[in-house]
Amino acid sequence: MKKIQDIQDLNEKKVLLRLDLNIPLKKKVILDETRIDKILPVINFLIKKKAKIIILSHIGRPNGKVVPELSMKPVCENLEKKINQKINLFTEDIRKIKTEDLFKNFNDNIVVLENIRFYSEEEENDLNFAKHLATLGDIYVNDAFSCSHRSHASVSNITKFLPSYAGLQLSSEVTALQKITTNIKKPVTCIIGGSKISTKIGIIENLIPNFDNIVFVGGMANNILKFKKFSIGKSIYEKNCEEIIKKIFEISKKNSCSIIYPEDVIVGKELEGKPFAKQLNQIENDDMILDIGIKTLKRVNNLINSSKTILWNGPAGYSENPNFAKGSYEIARCIVKNIKTNSVFSIAGGGDTIALLNKINVINEFNFVSTAGGAFLEYLEGKVLPGISALK
Ligand code: 3PG
Repeated sequence: MKKIQDIQDLNEKKVLLRLDLNIPLKKKVILDETRIDKILPVINFLIKKKAKIIILSHIGRPNGKVVPELSMKPVCENLEKKINQKINLFTEDIRKIKTEDLFKNFNDNIVVLENIRFYSEEEENDLNFAKHLATLGDIYVNDAFSCSHRSHASVSNITKFLPSYAGLQLSSEVTALQKITTNIKKPVTCIIGGSKISTKIGIIENLIPNFDNIVFVGGMANNILKFKKFSIGKSIYEKNCEEIIKKIFEISKKNSCSIIYPEDVIVGKELEGKPFAKQLNQIENDDMILDIGIKTLKRVNNLINSSKTILWNGPAGYSENPNFAKGSYEIARCIVKNIKTNSVFSIAGGGDTIALLNKINVINEFNFVSTAGGAFLEYLEGKVLPGISALK
């Protein structure tokens, strides 16, 4: 992979910089700035080299339509403050923009193009769209490791039309993950949350042979509880995933990997409501499972204490409400305690996991925190990421 540091001359060069500024937003307010903070080094690097920077990114999943709530505007304003420089946001149709339009004033150095996923061509990896994007710059840099598992135009096909390089953050993520995949110490425990089991089945299947324990928490665990015929009230779950879960149990049995799921839970009547501890046979029709219970937490913490490597992706509950954040916070604290005694190597990844580590100020205690969710897991299971292979 050629790296951004290898580029000889960046002076006045137009650099198309693909970033992952897909940050959590609520009513256009940024809930977590970690992904913005992580890309400051590459921006500062390019500023120092006197490059002209064209930032490409997506936020959310607008499915090829303009969704005003998913505009890059709040990110743009936040970044402006952080680097203390004016940034122009281009809201015009990207498909019609010409490179001459971008830096009209001599002093303009950074432009942000509006959410690239407002165009269906992005996710279709449309060759003509990628070709057009490439006409906007002289050099392409991918510093969006967390999007590199997507075969999208601004990640994959664009590299066919421009000299392409890995950014600082992407290189450091790959280096750290390479270390983990080649030197993994057993026993290994994976704690996996999130809601859509179908999007993670490939990953789970591949992790099972190498892992000793897989702990299902969060919305993911609801699917397992439903499969095991427990009532889950009005908790979120994914329809039609019985076959997937059956497969998970079969493969884990074959590979002596233990599957752990909640034995007790914390429920609420609504997301912003109060917490009630319940056993699995006490869940009522209007209950929502929003955290793991004390018994489950103890079991998870015991597993952490006896593991040498921990991978964590996805909170244990609805941690946006402090009433349902205890499980996630206690898991984080238990991992940190073990890191301090050097008894565990820990890797955490995923936007929601990062947000909660930030809330209790332990993000820097982890051995490695990846800003990537899906890309992080796919890399760990040994898959070739299209965005990385496109740089080779
Ligand atoms: C992420 O948050 O993992 C990346 O931005 C990719 O987002 P996606 O899952 O919507 O492709």
